[in-house]
Amino acid sequence: MSAEATDDPLADNLARWEEQVDIHLASGFYRVKEFLGGETSLDPLVLSEIGDVAGKKLLHLQCHFGLDTLSFARMGAKATGLDFSPKAIAAARKLAAEAGLDARFVNARVDEAAKAAGTGYDIVFASWGTLMWLPDLTVWAGNIAECLMPGGTFYLAEGHPLLWTLDDEGKTVAENFRIVRSYFLDGPQQWENAHDYAEPGIALTHFKSHEWQHTLGEVVTVLAEAGLRIDFLHEHDRLVWAGVPSLEWDGTFYRAPEGAPRLPLSYSVRARKA
Ligand SMILES: C[S@@+](CC[C@H](N)C(=O)[O-])C[C@H]1O[C@@H](n2cnc3c(N)ncnc32)[C@H](O)[C@@H]1O
Repeated sequence: MSAEATDDPLADNLARWEEQVDIHLASGFYRVKEFLGGETSLDPLVLSEIGDVAGKKLLHLQCHFGLDTLSFARMGAKATGLDFSPKAIAAARKLAAEAGLDARFVNARVDEAAKAAGTGYDIVFASWGTLMWLPDLTVWAGNIAECLMPGGTFYLAEGHPLLWTLDDEGKTVAENFRIVRSYFLDGPQQWENAHDYAEPGIALTHFKSHEWQHTLGEVVTVLAEAGLRIDFLHEHDRLVWAGVPSLEWDGTFYRAPEGAPRLPLSYSVRARKA
């Protein structure tokens, strides 16, 4: 897979993600040192909702450099991580060796997940900042259904689509909580933003990205149409990153400050293959 920027949206996204791997490995945001020291990279929301993973065959879609995949391996899962970035997958394999953890890493796009990572999984998992990179959620859900064994579960935690409509460039609480973008968008939005979310001081040379906004209804509908039964769809007033600047860290999550409207900032879905 080439990392050169072209007119192909996924190639632009790949070039950007390739450049971000080394930056993220060194950033305090990802807490690699703490992970190697024994900390989990998984947040309390995921840990409270995903259920027991010990002994389960688990596929982590869009695993980046594998911290969450390896955290599941540490909890006893037979974990596989998949990502389209060759650099991220190489870094994940290196981290697995450093941490002394047994996990498999596959370099592939989500739309070829079943072919590349195989089938018969008890759990398929994805979290935080994954769906906006995918042009076609029907293909995504079809791959999830194919990867799962009958009775297996899919779990997703993601930023709420309402969050993407808010003014994240506003300077005040009132500005941050006003709607400035559409909830319904056709086709990708193209961004030219050189700032890395984990290290905003670093200017990326691959600054183009293409992102797709998927509504809550679309996510649930494609999963149902792929043959999964929804166990729950939870909306949360908290988030694991500062989605708009005025959110406040409470020690575990970012939340709206006192006086701001209490909006859904994230959501989680669990679905089961019949
Ligand atoms: C925000 S990160 C992953 C979130 C993960 N929770 C984390 O923070 O480590 C998004 C990941 O999606 C990957 N990605 C983007 N588009 C992809 C695609 N079409 N197929 C597979 N991986 C993709 C990127 O390489 C990146 O590692």
